[in-house]
Amino acid sequence: MTGAAGGLGTELCARLVSAGAHVIGTDRSDAKLDRLATLVAGGPGRLTPVLLDQSDPAAARATVAALVQVHGAIDSLVNNAGIYPKSFAVDQDADEMRHVLDINAIAATTLVGAVAPGMKAAGFGRIVNVASITFVLGFTELSAYVASKGALVGLARVWARELGPDGITVNCISPGAFLTDAEKIHPDPAGYNQHVLDSQAVKRRGEPADFAHAVMFLLDRRSGFVTGQNLTVDGGWVMQ
Ligand SMILES: NC(=O)c1ccc[n+]([C@@H]2O[C@H](COP(=O)([O-])OP(=O)(O)OC[C@H]3O[C@@H](n4cnc5c(N)ncnc54)[C@H](O)[C@@H]3O)[C@@H](O)[C@H]2O)c1
Repeated sequence: MTGAAGGLGTELCARLVSAGAHVIGTDRSDAKLDRLATLVAGGPGRLTPVLLDQSDPAAARATVAALVQVHGAIDSLVNNAGIYPKSFAVDQDADEMRHVLDINAIAATTLVGAVAPGMKAAGFGRIVNVASITFVLGFTELSAYVASKGALVGLARVWARELGPDGITVNCISPGAFLTDAEKIHPDPAGYNQHVLDSQAVKRRGEPADFAHAVMFLLDRRSGFVTGQNLTVDGGWVMQ
């Protein structure tokens, strides 16, 4: 799992380890990974925290190769890391856009390429891309981010067809609004909170556990007939 030490990733790590999984959790800072290791200290599974700045494709490929050498083939991949700088589409700086696409979408491509051979050899794999309802809603001031999430939705559909014959499913989760660092980009927290509640059918804020539960459904061995889908987890904000 990438972005494992973030707000949503930490909860997913904890739940997977509780369910007995060996989770390799990557993130870009040692301090965040140390905190993650403290929070996910129990069993019966285990966590292997790994430092990876996934803006560098060579580093991502080398990290997967080293991990496979030590732990064997990786059976599941959750592309969860993301950055969300604010930018109006009309003012979008091309270099910043490339940077966001590198981390949010192109890294996912590199990682899928790195884990797919092992999954194909095993005849089994689960890949989940973490997208966002902002792609459906077209949130303003998040142009590069929204474009990167659209790329993840499209890629999941292509990978689902390319990898389906090998027993590998590929799906997206599109979270709605969750109270992690991601929400700090909104200048009026109380106003945004009210907007979220007004927009959702369910009149409470989403918890990381809501996200984790949905990802774990897609990772489950029994979910092998669900692929190429985008599962929205937003309390009924977007309905499609
Ligand atoms: N929180 C929400 O409301 C929300 C809504 C929709 C989608 N999402 C998506 O869910 C995912 C998790 O978000 P979150 O809310 O936990 O935010 P978060 O910021 O807490 O977590 C994102 C994680 O990605 C890591 N990351 C960023 N750049 C990296 C890099 N170059 N290399 C490696 N790791 C890097 C960060 O260190 C962080 O731990 C993201 O993809 C985000 O876009 C979140």
